[in-house]
Amino acid sequence: MSSQIHGTQHFDKSKRLEIKFSDEVMQIAQTIINRYPKGKQKSALLPILHLAQAEFGGWLSPETMDYVASILNIKSIEVFEVASFYSMYNLKPMGKCILEVCQTSSCWLNGAEDIVKYIEKKLNIKVGETTKDGMFSLKVAECLGSCGTSPMLQCGASYHENLTYEKVDALLENYKSENKRKSYTDLDYKNTL
Ligand code: FES
Repeated sequence: MSSQIHGTQHFDKSKRLEIKFSDEVMQIAQTIINRYPKGKQKSALLPILHLAQAEFGGWLSPETMDYVASILNIKSIEVFEVASFYSMYNLKPMGKCILEVCQTSSCWLNGAEDIVKYIEKKLNIKVGETTKDGMFSLKVAECLGSCGTSPMLQCGASYHENLTYEKVDALLENYKSENKRKSYTDLDYKNTL
């Protein structure tokens, strides 16, 4: 699969990860695949992509999509079609913490725009960009189902609700001191299998 169509020009190839699940993660992948009837393993594509994204640096490189295709015995283009459709999947390298600020009605009415502007100013980036240190990326999202506690943002598996500037300061500080990549699979997903 051509790397150009995925916009990987900023990816430092010297930092390329080995694209192969550990035995433990492969076991999780297999459990997910086994939920579906034989021959219908493509149905496991979404959760396997989440696993792959979490395991291989927070984004889905062409190599990662090829690997997922090989596990599910489907074509790479089928993986790309799905990965490029959903905003949860990243097709280029992203910051360790992706801040997804909801911008839909309830959040918008309660100040989401100001929260976005505040984060942009604080991190010196615009929506869609990543800080120079690779720590944060900023995105906007459509309703994340937490309208009663708006404005809110999601980072990996965590929701930050009833946001104020002070809360934003605190959460950015926390993430910075943790210095860890946050993923949708950070919940104890092994217990949900
Ligand atoms: S409108 Fe923001 S969570 Fe629903």
